[in-house]
Amino acid sequence: MANENAWAALEPHGERLRTQHLRALFDADPRRFDKFSFRLDDLFIDLSKEKIDAEALNALIALARETGVEARRDAMATGEAINETEGRAVLHMALRGSVPPPDGDDVQGVLDRFLGFAEDVRGGVFSGSGGAFTDVLNIGIGGSDLGPAMAARALHADIDGPRPHFVSNVDGAHFADTVARLDPRTTLVVICSKTFTTQETMANARLARAWLGTANSSQLAAVSTNLEGCAGFGIPEERVFGFWDWVGGRYSMWSAIGLSLAVAIGRDRFKAMLDGAKAMDQHFLTAPLAENLPILLGLIGIWRRNVLGYGATALIPYDQRLDRFAAHIQQVDMESNGKSVALDGMDLDHASGPVIFGEPGTNAQHSFFQLLHQGSDVIPVDFIASASPNGGDPDHHQLLLANCLAQAQALAFGRTEDETAAEMRAKGISESEVAEKTPHRTFPGDRPSTMILQHQMTPYALGRLVALFEHRVFVQGAIWGVNSFDQWGVELGKALTGPIHDALSGEDIKTDQSTQGLIGLIRGQHG
Ligand code: F6P
Repeated sequence: MANENAWAALEPHGERLRTQHLRALFDADPRRFDKFSFRLDDLFIDLSKEKIDAEALNALIALARETGVEARRDAMATGEAINETEGRAVLHMALRGSVPPPDGDDVQGVLDRFLGFAEDVRGGVFSGSGGAFTDVLNIGIGGSDLGPAMAARALHADIDGPRPHFVSNVDGAHFADTVARLDPRTTLVVICSKTFTTQETMANARLARAWLGTANSSQLAAVSTNLEGCAGFGIPEERVFGFWDWVGGRYSMWSAIGLSLAVAIGRDRFKAMLDGAKAMDQHFLTAPLAENLPILLGLIGIWRRNVLGYGATALIPYDQRLDRFAAHIQQVDMESNGKSVALDGMDLDHASGPVIFGEPGTNAQHSFFQLLHQGSDVIPVDFIASASPNGGDPDHHQLLLANCLAQAQALAFGRTEDETAAEMRAKGISESEVAEKTPHRTFPGDRPSTMILQHQMTPYALGRLVALFEHRVFVQGAIWGVNSFDQWGVELGKALTGPIHDALSGEDIKTDQSTQGLIGLIRGQHG
């Protein structure tokens, strides 16, 4: 294992802490909360409910140092081609003005142009065949969908322009159901695709062009690095917005890929979102490791995954408008660090990216939290909450937050057998029932969580939060020694789709027995 000593240095800490209940860690230190909480302005991160102590954290920081996280971060910031397998720089931070873009790439010019276009759409300067645009339809998938779609929901309170809609899936129902409520004469269609070749997006783009009817290309805009592809599709140059190969798809919501969002929330709020991300970038680039939020979150992830052996992480925002946040971070994290080969092409000898999943609280409490509290696997939780609501009933918000804190408390401290039995006895429950029910009603606790608390969900706060997670992924990828910026694992399925598609349309192909059988069944049932 590379940097064997730093990895090995974690082990005694793991041995010490694995068997220490979080209750004991809190009992031993009345200042634990103060010691393990960190902040950047109003963004507060409480790590006290993670199974760490000061020595373990120091060993983790040493691991970050010895695996060269800072050097790799600085190489990213200065535009080195750290995406080695694709020979590309990784400069999404340049989109928010945190680091310079490569010479000749006019980031500011494109930003001004697409935000200016967004304002023209919002102000009716550029309109549809039926008048001012009422709706904007984003066609894209993966990174060309998830970030802006997530942000458009998260910032619902800030939408005062045309309503944003997102079609990603090649399932025709997605397009049909979405446009059923839209008027093609007042809908702007934005085709987003870094490559402008993605099968699903191109299929949906063709549907959209046909749906627009006579308006067709005059109500189409596109965002891509493939300017020729956009022209070939019939989109006039003045409505094509470019970006660069140094922006990974899953890191592209800050580029013109955010156009639909910008149309919905306007230039100033879009810029505020960039500013929030920039604040996190500056912090990530300059804060000492021991106070650096993305570094600390990344290290906690390493601790959970490689020392404590937890294979999944739940991401639970107590914010209904963040109902697509886990989906976006899933792509950022799992497509980046779901790798088992190191940068040098050798197999990794340690676990890498965990499964990330999540839903907003309190809904998640009524679905999978049972497993989080009492299941046979421990799944650490990242909670996200805002102290102040952004609209909605303020009393509801207090109830929402109370639930959030209660869940973190229950996970960490649980309820012992004695406490469970005592509670039942206090309610007058018979001794036989107490004996029978106690094992089922006991909570083991000792289940770690991180609490991320901010003042309020605003465009600035959202930008800062997403950048925090982007950088966490970077830190973990650097420590694991993988390339977090390629995604070869999506290739094979794409390549196999073509012949199977042909077979479903009647061609004979040679394939495996199971696929052949299923093709036959589908052909037989195709109506
Ligand atoms: O499926 C993989 C992927 O390449 C993602 O990384 C990317 O975000 C998505 O497809 C969409 O790609 P494009 O923006 O080129 O259409």
